[in-house]
Amino acid sequence: MTPSLTVLGIESSCDDTAAAVLRGPEVLSSVVYGQTALHAAFGGVVPELAARAHVEKLDIAVAAALSEAVLALDQIDVIAVTAGPGLIGGVLSGVMLAKGLSAASGVPLIGVNHLAGHALTPRFTDGLAFPYLMLLVSGGHCQFLRVEGPEAFHRLGGTIDDAPGEAFDKTAKLLGLPQPGGPAVELEARAGDPARFVFPRPLLDRAGCDMSFSGLKTALLRARDGLVSAGGGLTAQNRADLCAGFQAAICDVLVEKSRRALTQSEGVTGFAVAGGVAANEQVRSGLARLAAELDVPFVAPPLRYCTDNAAMIAWAGQEAFSAGACSGLDLSARPRWPLDNSQPALLGSGKKGAKA
Ligand code: KG4
Ligand code: ZN
Repeated sequence: MTPSLTVLGIESSCDDTAAAVLRGPEVLSSVVYGQTALHAAFGGVVPELAARAHVEKLDIAVAAALSEAVLALDQIDVIAVTAGPGLIGGVLSGVMLAKGLSAASGVPLIGVNHLAGHALTPRFTDGLAFPYLMLLVSGGHCQFLRVEGPEAFHRLGGTIDDAPGEAFDKTAKLLGLPQPGGPAVELEARAGDPARFVFPRPLLDRAGCDMSFSGLKTALLRARDGLVSAGGGLTAQNRADLCAGFQAAICDVLVEKSRRALTQSEGVTGFAVAGGVAANEQVRSGLARLAAELDVPFVAPPLRYCTDNAAMIAWAGQEAFSAGACSGLDLSARPRWPLDNSQPALLGSGKKGAKA
């Protein structure tokens, strides 16, 4: 059943302050205020700065989303808010605002898992039916999920250290390229030879769908230092070749692990990808080719709904609320909130918060 409630979504778990209104799968408005410039000088998201910026912008984002949708708060059926996982100061800011709005207006409240938001996105963008396989691949997340229902997720594997976007960002930093690193590295890689530096493909020799990306940046650092000490600096061609080699390694790992995840996923209706790294042309086309080879429909939602946004939170709230879930004013903000409690927690936390 496709729900068709009018839902206000609120997202503030990392470095985007976002609000959106959805009616069924139709996006009536989606406002995102990014904080890239705020954190640019620090090489990563500074949690305290992020939280303060969310506090300043959240009510403005909600007002803008309602006004764009030409709706008042009392015309909203449910308020959906990201309640975790993420940077706790940001999550708390969103949850407190949502509670205030709910208490003042009497509109029901529902706390949403940010990862569920990403994982359910292909449902409102492409109408994908359950069950499907999802690869979530961004600056903060990297996992394979078999999505069986609005609140039924089975994790097949994920990164045990860095997320791929984080590896792109660190690589850019090591090579003196701007942040966010993904687009900059991709651009450099276009002029590079991916075969000149062959970087490791971690964990490909191990069964299963777990991945590791932290060793890649160490290999890249060694190659860079070798070039610098041999030649007194990095030429433009060296830099392009390093980027091309790095990107090829990431792609190979993602495609090969996706092959394993797909062969373990009988009966899925499709293979979907979400997250900022899905913007990478080589990653996207590698995954699309794999899906075609295995004869599985491939879904890559528009980028504005792949990266952090509140439309996905409104949709996930809508699905869960329609299935009978609801939160009270005791809803708490959770820095960690694994989607699949039957699996061991992923280790560590990245520069964008807990990996869940
Ligand atoms: O989903 P997202 O906007 O935020 C979260 O991490 O939650 O993803 C941002 C990440 C950054 O690490 C960025 O470098 C990476 O996605 N990214 C890319 C590309 N565009 C963005 N990575 C590789 N190639 C790209 N074209
Ligand atoms: Zn995210």
